[in-house]
Amino acid sequence: MSFKIEVGNINNQQVQRPLTDSFGRVHTNLRVSVTDRCNLRCFYCMPAENVQFLPRKDLLSYEEITRFVNCMATRCGLTKVRLTGGEPLVRHGLHELVSQLCSISQLKEIGLTTNGILLDQQAQPLFDAGLRRINISLDTLDREKFKQYTRRDNLDKVLAGIEAAQNVGFESIKINAVAIQGMTEQDLVSLGQFARETGIEVRFIEFMPLDADHAWEREKVLYAEKMIEILSKEICQLNPCQVVHKNAPAVSYQFADGRGKIGFISSVSRPFCAQCNRFRLTAEGKIRNCLFSQDETDVMELLRSGVEDDVLIDRVMQSIAAKKEGHEINSAKFLQPDRPMYSIGG
Ligand code: 5AD
Ligand code: SF4
Repeated sequence: MSFKIEVGNINNQQVQRPLTDSFGRVHTNLRVSVTDRCNLRCFYCMPAENVQFLPRKDLLSYEEITRFVNCMATRCGLTKVRLTGGEPLVRHGLHELVSQLCSISQLKEIGLTTNGILLDQQAQPLFDAGLRRINISLDTLDREKFKQYTRRDNLDKVLAGIEAAQNVGFESIKINAVAIQGMTEQDLVSLGQFARETGIEVRFIEFMPLDADHAWEREKVLYAEKMIEILSKEICQLNPCQVVHKNAPAVSYQFADGRGKIGFISSVSRPFCAQCNRFRLTAEGKIRNCLFSQDETDVMELLRSGVEDDVLIDRVMQSIAAKKEGHEINSAKFLQPDRPMYSIGG
């Protein structure tokens, strides 16, 4: 008897069942949300109060997440994983998950996106577990504005978290700031200076329609082009970096005097859908083929019923195959997804 095996080649590795969609995009990058809970209430993501969180039993366990990632990495060519939330560090013992994922040799990169509040305590155990890449969300260095953005008075904790991350020696630390017209203009220069002083790349992400309050409007997006203009005028000329990473949504710039790097994620003004290689696993075990998709595919039930890997892969491939060409934020057809950012996983 002979089996027909689909074989692809990703990073010179034989991949039996690559996750290719109908536009030829090969999915090698997974974002895993480990919880929808968060210790902040950023206005562009969560509502101010009355948030209904998932009950504990509805979350994938670390073992279930590891089984899923292992299957994708060994059979489907997955090479990158990023842990997100909600706020991933509010889930107990996250370093244990990191350590389980680090034992999957096919994974080339494991990253974490955190708001940094709990990082001063967890930076060391995470590093010891094998984590080397960390993105910290921080929109402003001004205490009052931090309170306004996040509805919590916690700037000092985030700064302590960043310092702790620098001290333990992560290979890559980046700051993410959401870029909002009418607000971020005042934070640009201090964040730009922060990038120059610390050597940490600060990346500005254009505000996307993923807020729980549905208050997003095009007029509230601060475009990369405008930010480059302001930073160049107020600090020093910003020029695009020579090295361009394929599939990376951020375009990196550096100041002409060689001090400081700034990234721009122009999700609205220059969508990168055509190069997208990402898919998502939500905390309750749903696959989403796009941040903005209207549909999701359940894998928790499969993981809990003990099916074989191929059944799991069939389900994931169905989801990937149905991926749309792009998010269409810039078309009249655009529909904001029901789930806000904290419940999808940033
Ligand atoms: N638009 C753009 N970025 C957002 N984030 C959360 N909500 C939004 C939004 N509506 C960012 C956070 C964090 C990452 C997980 O997603 O700042 O850096
Ligand atoms: Fe929490 Fe991140 Fe959402 Fe802010 S953006 S409320 S830190 S999940």
